[in-house]
Amino acid sequence: MRSSLYLIAALSVCFAPVFSTSHKYDLDPKNWKPEDVITRDVAIVGGGSSGTYSALSLKDKGKSIIVIEKKARMGGHTETYIDPATDKPLDMGVIIFHNITVVRNYFKRMGVEIIAFGSDADPNAPAEKAANYDATTGKEVNVKIFSEDEVSAAFKKYAEILDKYPKLDDGMFLPDPVPEDLVMPFGEFVKKHDIEAVLDTMFNYNPGLGDILTGPTVEQMRVFGKTLVNSLSTGFLTTKHHNNSEVYTKATSELLSTNSLLLSSEVVHTSRTDNEVKLLVRTPTGPKLILSKKLLISIPPKPPNLHPFSLLPTETRIFSTLLNAGYYTSILSHTGIPDTTRIINYSPSTPHNFPVLPAIYSVSPTGAPGLHFAYYGSLLGNETYPLEDEFVKSEIIKAVKTMQAAHPDMFNASEPEFVEYSSHAPFYAQFGAEDTRRGMYGELYGLQGLRSTFWTGAAFRAQDSSLCWRFSEEVVLPMLLEGL
Ligand SMILES: Cc1cc2nc3c(=O)[nH]c(=O)nc-3n(C[C@H](O)[C@H](O)[C@H](O)COP(=O)(O)OP(=O)(O)OC[C@H]3O[C@@H](n4cnc5c(N)ncnc54)[C@H](O)[C@@H]3O)c2cc1C
Ligand SMILES: *[C@@H]1O[C@H](CO)[C@@H](O)[C@H](O)[C@H]1NC(C)=O
Ligand SMILES: *[C@@H]1O[C@H](CO)[C@@H](O)[C@H](O)[C@H]1NC(C)=O
Ligand SMILES: *[C@@H]1O[C@H](CO)[C@@H](O)[C@H](O)[C@H]1NC(C)=O
Ligand SMILES: *[C@@H]1O[C@H](CO)[C@@H](O)[C@H](O)[C@H]1NC(C)=O
Repeated sequence: MRSSLYLIAALSVCFAPVFSTSHKYDLDPKNWKPEDVITRDVAIVGGGSSGTYSALSLKDKGKSIIVIEKKARMGGHTETYIDPATDKPLDMGVIIFHNITVVRNYFKRMGVEIIAFGSDADPNAPAEKAANYDATTGKEVNVKIFSEDEVSAAFKKYAEILDKYPKLDDGMFLPDPVPEDLVMPFGEFVKKHDIEAVLDTMFNYNPGLGDILTGPTVEQMRVFGKTLVNSLSTGFLTTKHHNNSEVYTKATSELLSTNSLLLSSEVVHTSRTDNEVKLLVRTPTGPKLILSKKLLISIPPKPPNLHPFSLLPTETRIFSTLLNAGYYTSILSHTGIPDTTRIINYSPSTPHNFPVLPAIYSVSPTGAPGLHFAYYGSLLGNETYPLEDEFVKSEIIKAVKTMQAAHPDMFNASEPEFVEYSSHAPFYAQFGAEDTRRGMYGELYGLQGLRSTFWTGAAFRAQDSSLCWRFSEEVVLPMLLEGL
């Protein structure tokens, strides 16, 4: 158990046989056995970062809840691989958190110790060796480096611009009309304000967002807002055991013990009215009927995920407009690359040396002997699942072999193997510049409460766990709790 991982997804479990035809789409409780009917204040779809946080917060506020999670585990993008050789936990998903009240309170409530990120680094550990290589040729790239002073001056200026949009630190609350600065391609924005020195840090902190230079500026700002800029100087938090899944294992036990969690389960049919929600859910122990006063949806709101929810035309219209990228993580063995070497993929021929996506972002040390992380990203587009996993894997292997071939003096020619691989698509659901200009974020937020349904998660806030928790706590749950 310990040697394996918690990231085994029960994605394709077939529940069909447990469905008796009489239950198919029957939402009338009179036709159900009482033990298969679950009545709660709030039904929460998705047990990842936002869903888990919201479930516990509502529970603590005295509300009855049920979480419906598709996979056999909670945690979403938080994934921890336990290296069997060393028993070392490797966070291959979420790593860092902001030192803000909602985060401190949450970890305290969960009984998981947090520390300043980096504060427990082993002073005797061998130094990391960073290299900038073009993954398509393996050759070293001479990346234009800004001095520390230039970088901090640029961030200072960027923070002053952010001050003009204080509500952006709470969510996608854009001024109306949307200022041109917010929708212009970020590459033009940094040029206009002469802050190109922020780019490299932003690129490295916030991958999986598509092309940083062509995407609208507000998509950088939603994650790189005041809170993150602040954390760059005050520092981040992480869990003391470097095992960020602990929160979710604890949440799982707590919620299971109060019959508040259905794992490996999926909503298949829904009825939503202004005062009641009925969900027909497939579970490993047969179909259940959930009756709740409110529904909180925390999964990526892309059409393939939402068809069981009987969407209103306006919901369908708004969610179909969302773009997203693909972001893929893995742990490799037999890379032939020394444990302490970190390789970042840069291009010699693009304006800021950023790689042309889709591409590998980096091959980096895990801290466990013989293992490296490898991260890969796609461009933004309409496709919910932009790339096939087999394609991503073969591209990762190709990149490593290209580095090996280019540096036979440093790297061994060996066959890399996937110890772990995870697709995080759809990642970073967002509107294109034109839709943002037309006020789509206002329309998106306007969906809150319609037919007793509320929404949280990265598409509504940002790909940042701390910000998703704060948004859920301070923006979404207060609305949901009204009249409950
Ligand atoms: C590699 C990686 C590293 C990251 N690092 C950090 C970091 O260091 N710090 C940070 O703050 N953030 C980080 N993030 C971002 C962070 O993970 C997200 O902001 C956060 O997970 C978003 O929460 P969420 O609830 O929207 O989605 P998720 O956490 O993905 O949760 C969604 C949940 O819904 C479930 N689900 C999907 N479809 C259905 C369905 N139909 N029915 C039921 N359940 C369903 C999924 O299985 C999942 O459990 C990282 C993300 C990735 C991918
Ligand atoms: C987090 O912030 C609090 C309050 O500002 C501070 O007391 C604490 O030392 C910080 N913790 C870490 C680990 O940085
Ligand atoms: C990591 O956390 C999980 C969940 O709490 C736990 O089961 C596991 O033993 C932990 N492993 C290590 C090595 O800390
Ligand atoms: C490369 O091969 C040599 C000789 O087999 C071995 O000693 C060394 O550990 C290998 N290094 C890596 C990084 O695989
Ligand atoms: C999304 O699809 C529409 C039409 O289907 C197309 O016009 C648009 O260019 C696509 N956008 C992206 C970013 O692929």
